[in-house]
Amino acid sequence: MFPLGKGEYSKQAHVALPEGTFEDEHGREGFYGRVSHLYHRHPPTGWTRIEGPLKPRAVNCLKLAAPEAIRPDDPFGEPVTFLYNADLALKIVRPTGPMPYYMRNADGDDVYFIHQGAGRLESDYGPLLYERGDYLVIPRGTTYRFTPADSANQFYLLIESFSEIKVPVKDRGMLGVGAQYDMGVVETPSPEPAPAGDLTGSQPGPQGEPEWEVRIKREGEYTSVFYPFNPLDVVGWKGDLCPIKLNIKDYRPVMSHRVHLPPSVHTTFLANNFVICSFVPRPFETDPEAMRVPFFHRNIDYDEVLFYHDGNFFSRHGIDAGMVTWHPQGIHHGPHPKAIGAVKNKVDTDEYAVMLDTRYPLKMTGEGQAAEWPEYHMSWSM
Ligand SMILES: [Fe+2]
Repeated sequence: MFPLGKGEYSKQAHVALPEGTFEDEHGREGFYGRVSHLYHRHPPTGWTRIEGPLKPRAVNCLKLAAPEAIRPDDPFGEPVTFLYNADLALKIVRPTGPMPYYMRNADGDDVYFIHQGAGRLESDYGPLLYERGDYLVIPRGTTYRFTPADSANQFYLLIESFSEIKVPVKDRGMLGVGAQYDMGVVETPSPEPAPAGDLTGSQPGPQGEPEWEVRIKREGEYTSVFYPFNPLDVVGWKGDLCPIKLNIKDYRPVMSHRVHLPPSVHTTFLANNFVICSFVPRPFETDPEAMRVPFFHRNIDYDEVLFYHDGNFFSRHGIDAGMVTWHPQGIHHGPHPKAIGAVKNKVDTDEYAVMLDTRYPLKMTGEGQAAEWPEYHMSWSM
């Protein structure tokens, strides 16, 4: 019986739309569940106004104010949370110097995405050098310390996940394990205990002897544990749990020249109730009947968040690097009206962005609201 087809429609989703129509995907479970494609005479985002709390939202992360310093001696600074739910918190950190302590997050895994800057991440497992475009996935409970290479232009997106971050190797199915990115390109640290001078003496203890601080976050509260030796003293390790590094430029997108694939094909990391996806440059579809821009949809089972990292954001007029858009469940989004015409003469995208799809609704903090572009929802009908 299914799929049914009524009135004017295309037998193949995202291809050869009836003349003058706009395709709208009404689907369940993200892009995996039952679905119908609706062919509208007008773009579903062509509203004249919205009254009520449910709106597409945008935050300019460059304008996020730093929270009051918990520790004036800490040039790394406290990350600023702008969106959150029970599964994750999205934060920005803009360090001007190294952590004067070692950090341990007992609340969740930390995924740092290096939007700008570079440096060295020390951990129990050894150091990793990082640069622009790196994802650094630090498992819950790891002791670590960031030492940025310089004091300017360090800008990191921090995704704190309250469940374990996993690599979707087994979910690639027919694509094969080498699709998207081969685990061979993922870097892991090797033990190299911190040199004796590192942090030594910077924090004299009560007796005047040098001491090393491990700052542990549990349920959002900090506890400091002090040692008379450097706690990063691991000489070796074995196992399958450790920090990992993947650069977004090593992500190889899955695509088809004949049909526009949904963003779920760009899933880079998995966690409970959310996924992290990477949007990277790719050629547009070449089949003349295939859609070349994202189809309209109302993402009824997932909130969608995009962090714009680099490039020309063809489908989101008015958005620049360092901004975030948030499309809550139930209200449409799709290609910006100006993008539909703009892609006709282009052969590829050149955008880099990090996307999160969250199963449960997100909330915006006061800090996020203070950095919001309040008219964003009206940019869709311009
Ligand atoms: Fe979407």
